[in-house]
Amino acid sequence: MTRSSLFSVARPRLPDLLLVVLLALLIIPILVHDSWTQAAQQTNDHLKNNANIALVNRGRYIVEDVAVCSQCHTPRNSAGDLERGQWLEGAPLWLLPAQPMGDWPLQAPRIAGSPGGSDADMIRLLTTGVWRDGQRLRPPMPQFRMSREDAESVVAYLRSLTPSPR
Ligand code: HEC
Repeated sequence: MTRSSLFSVARPRLPDLLLVVLLALLIIPILVHDSWTQAAQQTNDHLKNNANIALVNRGRYIVEDVAVCSQCHTPRNSAGDLERGQWLEGAPLWLLPAQPMGDWPLQAPRIAGSPGGSDADMIRLLTTGVWRDGQRLRPPMPQFRMSREDAESVVAYLRSLTPSPR
């Protein structure tokens, strides 16, 4: 073996080195970019999650403490207290009109989980009083005129509930 061929085996050739450097230059930005987008995505999900929690909490406050939907839409036990285990799952109506009314409903339907309308139907109902068939619901269902934000939070809260299996 000649002296010059030994030399060329022991020392990495220049083109190889260049290739490694080039590859590194190519890969490092990809890795950095990936972890950046991942971090940004996580922050984004986190913010969205927080916004959704805030929306649901506001909806719960309106439903439970302001518009008291539960008073009609939740069944009661024999002591007359609301059944927490069947929250907003529909209930026989306990109110009667002071004056006889022909078409008085006997039931307040289930509104927990997936009420009988799309989000848009629900928002329209709560902001205008008009239900998905273009009609107003019968009393004693109140004719709400909520702001859009309030209606959206009520819907977010109702959707967040999981009704018990029936
Ligand atoms: C005073 C009683 C009462 C209160 C309070 C009340 N509801 Fe109702 N709700 C009813 C009755 C009764 C009906 C059935 C009306 C009908 O059949 O025409 C009804 C119907 C509905 C429906 C139609 C559901 C379907 O599948 O047909 C929705 C949605 C609804 N209520 C949502 C709400 C929400 C949300 C609240 C609170 C923000 C609320 N209601 C408060 C009595 C009430």
